[in-house]
Amino acid sequence: MFVANWKMNGSSITVKEWLNIISSSDNLNKCIFCPPLLYLKEANEFISEKKLSLSLGAQDIDPENNISLTGGISPSMLKDVGCKYSIIGHSERRNFYKEDSTLLIDKVSICLKEGIKVIFCIGESLEERNSGQTKEILSQQLRALDGFSSENLMVAYEPVWAIGSGRIPLLEDISETSDYLIDELISLGHKQEEITILYGGSVDASNAKEIYQLKSVSGLLIGGASLDGEQFLKIIG
Ligand code: PGA
Repeated sequence: MFVANWKMNGSSITVKEWLNIISSSDNLNKCIFCPPLLYLKEANEFISEKKLSLSLGAQDIDPENNISLTGGISPSMLKDVGCKYSIIGHSERRNFYKEDSTLLIDKVSICLKEGIKVIFCIGESLEERNSGQTKEILSQQLRALDGFSSENLMVAYEPVWAIGSGRIPLLEDISETSDYLIDELISLGHKQEEITILYGGSVDASNAKEIYQLKSVSGLLIGGASLDGEQFLKIIG
């Protein structure tokens, strides 16, 4: 899978330009486009009109349906605009908005209940990595997935220090960490054959292939480099 996470970027025009560029790919069935919420509806219209096999995802979701919550976006609203996935627990939301595991568990829970597939992000900070705490931190974050199944859920390993920095871990490290995550998920009761691990953090056209080829990595979550349609085409091959 290839997830294009546009974060707080783009406009009506660039969304359509981008969709036009990438529509030439034969691999769209492996891609999930996550533009800002405002553009999901028009992206969905474009995708339906051109009969593209690209899926749509939200970058976040609220953990409730139809309650009095100013500014809230519910799973049913996302489904209404053709959205099949939601990113949950991105480090930017964990850090800026102090989203903690209690909230994230509620988000995962409502998504799975309402039929929205989850892209659950985890990752260690540089400080945590340097003090040898990577595995401990990742295990703590993964514990939010205890009691869920991996059937409709992917885990995106995104070291916080690699996001937007141009630095990526060594391939051996990505591989070792992904294997570790698989073992941890199995110990939480997830079925091995359902587990999907994505890698994210400074993925671009120059490094995507070697990361994607790692045995335990089943996909990539791409931020900055996904904004450029031509570069995204190169990444998805
Ligand atoms: P990046 O972002 O590719 O720009 O590093 C990835 C992400 O935060 O999902």
